[in-house]
Amino acid sequence: MKKNWFEEKTKKLSSIGGYQKPDLNQNALKFDSNENYVISKQFQNDIISSARKNSDVREYPLGGVEHLIQRISEFVKMPSSMIGVGNGSDQILDLILSNFASKQTKVLTSNPTFGFFEERCKLYSIPLITISFSNNMKLDIKDFVKQSKNADILYLDSPNNPTGFQFSKNELQKFIKSFSGLVIIDEAYGEFGDYSLSSLVKTQKNLIVVQTLSKSFGLAGLRLGYFIANKKFTNTFMNILQYPYPLSTITIESGILALDKSNLMKDAVANIKIERKRIVETLQKYDTFEVFDSKANFVLFDAKGIYKRVYSALAEQGISIRKLGKIGNHEGCLRMTIGTKEMNSKFLLAIRDLLE
Ligand SMILES: Cc1ncc(COP(=O)(O)O)c(C=O)c1O
Repeated sequence: MKKNWFEEKTKKLSSIGGYQKPDLNQNALKFDSNENYVISKQFQNDIISSARKNSDVREYPLGGVEHLIQRISEFVKMPSSMIGVGNGSDQILDLILSNFASKQTKVLTSNPTFGFFEERCKLYSIPLITISFSNNMKLDIKDFVKQSKNADILYLDSPNNPTGFQFSKNELQKFIKSFSGLVIIDEAYGEFGDYSLSSLVKTQKNLIVVQTLSKSFGLAGLRLGYFIANKKFTNTFMNILQYPYPLSTITIESGILALDKSNLMKDAVANIKIERKRIVETLQKYDTFEVFDSKANFVLFDAKGIYKRVYSALAEQGISIRKLGKIGNHEGCLRMTIGTKEMNSKFLLAIRDLLE
């Protein structure tokens, strides 16, 4: 080893770049990170204060993760031996990539795909084979089938971030059954979509379905993700890669309490879906925009030549959305997360003031 290897490695890593977080603006109305403000603040106040009462953080959370996994198992109706957890689904994806993928394993995914996943592949020098979205922001499963012979891992966020696209259940299921490598289906936005593939794990040993409490439960700050996979993988993940105490006591206790109140999550998801329809239909009225159908808690639209102006005008009014720019042939893509009815009305009013 060269004497300055540490310095050189740091320099090499720093040149990779990294995940682009939205700007921190304390007072902005946040439509930029696919968070969920529809579930009430009271929900998180209740679970966090009960979790505090149930917790003694002088101790390691011995037995805590097992208890949480039991509750997740009841929630997803799958055996607890097939469930693992992580500090957000980000960490689960990271642990899978860093331990199961390498320069030799090719990952087949869409373009665009979840930014964090792509950045991690870059970090570990994992080659990507990407399939682009069509002009109407859809994917063709035939393109995936064609490329699947060259790939070792399939990663799909279903629904996709940032487009909101989801394959039909039938075609995705059929494709997964034909793929011999590892399949990672990221269902971070699954509750807003048409279906989940979690029960397919019972028969597909090569399938890992990743889910999270960040989006539908509105608990992004808790950092609690989980996955459903075959028993052998789950056991290895939880006992070799992710141990002994992967989650904090407060996260474990809050997660259990949140799952007990999953009816509140379901109400919030139903409201978000209604608002999603309203936003899509309202934005579609502007000829300057091309709006794409979404199965997630956000809407992607192409504001073409005026996208920078739309983004800045909203920012000036304290409305923060995500500026994505070019996706395929679409030059001016913007993504807005669906908020509460009041938040969404402010967003739509600001758009109206700008364009009418
Ligand atoms: C597709 C997708 N997967 C995973 C995540 C990360 O979720 P978590 O908060 O569980 O780490 C996100 C967050 O934006 C996402 O968009």
